[in-house]
Amino acid sequence: MKGVEGFVVLLLRIAGALLSCALALVMAAGPALSGPSGSPAPGSHLLTGGGAGSTATEEPAEEPLPFDPAPPIGPALARVAALTALGRKLFNDPALSASGRMSCASCHVPAHGFGPPDSAPVRRGGPDLDRPGTRAVPSLTYVQFAPFFDEHHYEEDEGDGGLDAGPTGGRTWDGRVNRARDQAQIPLLSPHEMANVDLEAVVAKAAAADYAADFRALYGDTIFNDPARAFAALCEALEVYQEYPPDFGAFTSKYDAFLRGLAPLSEQERRGLAAFNDPDKGNCAHCHISRLSARGTLPLFTDFGLAAVGLPRNNAIPANADPTYFDLGLCGPLRQDFSDRKEYCGFFKTPSLRNVGLRPVFFHNGVISNLRDAVAFYADRDVNPRRWYPTNTDGTVRQFDDLPAEYHKNVNKEPPFNRGLGDAPALTEQEITDIAAFLMTLTDGFSPTHSPAAVKRSGVDLNSTNGGIK
Ligand code: HEC
Ligand code: HEC
Repeated sequence: MKGVEGFVVLLLRIAGALLSCALALVMAAGPALSGPSGSPAPGSHLLTGGGAGSTATEEPAEEPLPFDPAPPIGPALARVAALTALGRKLFNDPALSASGRMSCASCHVPAHGFGPPDSAPVRRGGPDLDRPGTRAVPSLTYVQFAPFFDEHHYEEDEGDGGLDAGPTGGRTWDGRVNRARDQAQIPLLSPHEMANVDLEAVVAKAAAADYAADFRALYGDTIFNDPARAFAALCEALEVYQEYPPDFGAFTSKYDAFLRGLAPLSEQERRGLAAFNDPDKGNCAHCHISRLSARGTLPLFTDFGLAAVGLPRNNAIPANADPTYFDLGLCGPLRQDFSDRKEYCGFFKTPSLRNVGLRPVFFHNGVISNLRDAVAFYADRDVNPRRWYPTNTDGTVRQFDDLPAEYHKNVNKEPPFNRGLGDAPALTEQEITDIAAFLMTLTDGFSPTHSPAAVKRSGVDLNSTNGGIK
């Protein structure tokens, strides 16, 4: 009973606080609207909720609540919004590079799910934009949901709590950084990307930009006196921007609408989904999770696990002109802490397939530039290896030619990779096309015509920002 009373009092208090906030708004707006001589609305009235105490005399005296019923969230939200706006400017500013012509967005193109602009496997950066990178540009949408890297990952959520899923998580193709703020330092300072000589060079450019004032407003007037702090601030702003849901985690694809009961999939998309999930066909959902989680959250189309799928070597990557050079992912050379763990050579992170339909190039080495071919690779990698790998003069096939022979045993053999020469492919030509069609439903920005009846049935709040799932 006591609890119920407390709850009612709490409701009354919140209502009171809301009322006084509304009053404060009206009062604050008054003078600002009254004419050019009126003083600007003092924001502090709104943020401190100064009027909340005015109803106290009408309420019975009682124990103070163990929390603030009307917390001043205004300033925190305002700071996030300001950091997001600053981060977006930084992300799009080519002046932050040594060439003056390369921003984060040059490689991570917003209209492509923050993936690369064209089907070239790697980008060229550096002071003269002539130094090639070694890996394809990953998409950045939904990357914020990656857990920190863990060599032994246990899925608490999915009912198999006892199973070690192996190396999982982190950022980049090999999971070698955990936080977006640490990741952002890599391209800013890498000689083949934005190529600043040191963090001081980055900070000097930010201090000269028109958004320098935003830095001072957020971090204090003296922020640029301490380059290390200013650089950390810059990376923090980039991190906060990369968490902005409408840009980096919108959950507005046709498949999301389907899961919410708001839009049907076409016949072909349904067939594609079925083949994608079927353990005897694509078995794609084994790694690219497609169902609602046990907690009811929308699927991310990755389990963030690292695995070796044994891609063909891409001779269009300049570094591969050296026959002794191999990008081995988790065991190096970019990542160094597992270089003696040969069982991990060839392991790369499973990317989310959300927005994969916006990508012009696929996999860590960009060896495939067509979505249907990316699906087909899974269907007949071992059934028809001649299609994917080079042939020797004696007619033998050099399968898994992007890995030294001693690491071929690391290549994944689970379904759909459990077939061999002469077997039927895991997927028919029609199923491959169907899966590609289904993958196109994972592109954000789908706008179904919401029938009010369907919305009511689903109980979904269309204005919700957390995926609309109750
Ligand atoms: C020259 C092209 C290029 C530029 C410029 C660039 N990136 Fe990247 N980005 C890449 C590549 C390539 C990778 C994959 C790196 C790897 O696996 O080692 C990557 C990886 C990432 C990742 C990890 C994604 C994942 O799947 O875990 C993030 C986050 C990221 N970049 C953000 C940024 C930000 C922020 C900037 C600007 C400060 C930026 N990038 C500038 C090419 C670029
Ligand atoms: C054993 C886990 C596993 C299974 C099963 C699996 N994938 Fe993947 N997928 C990965 C990994 C790991 C990568 C990245 C490999 C790399 O780049 O070296 C990847 C990458 C991809 C990519 C490239 C995405 C990008 O951003 O470049 C596509 C497309 C894809 N998978 C589709 C599928 C489809 C379709 C199926 C089912 C036919 C499937 N996958 C089954 C683990 C898996």
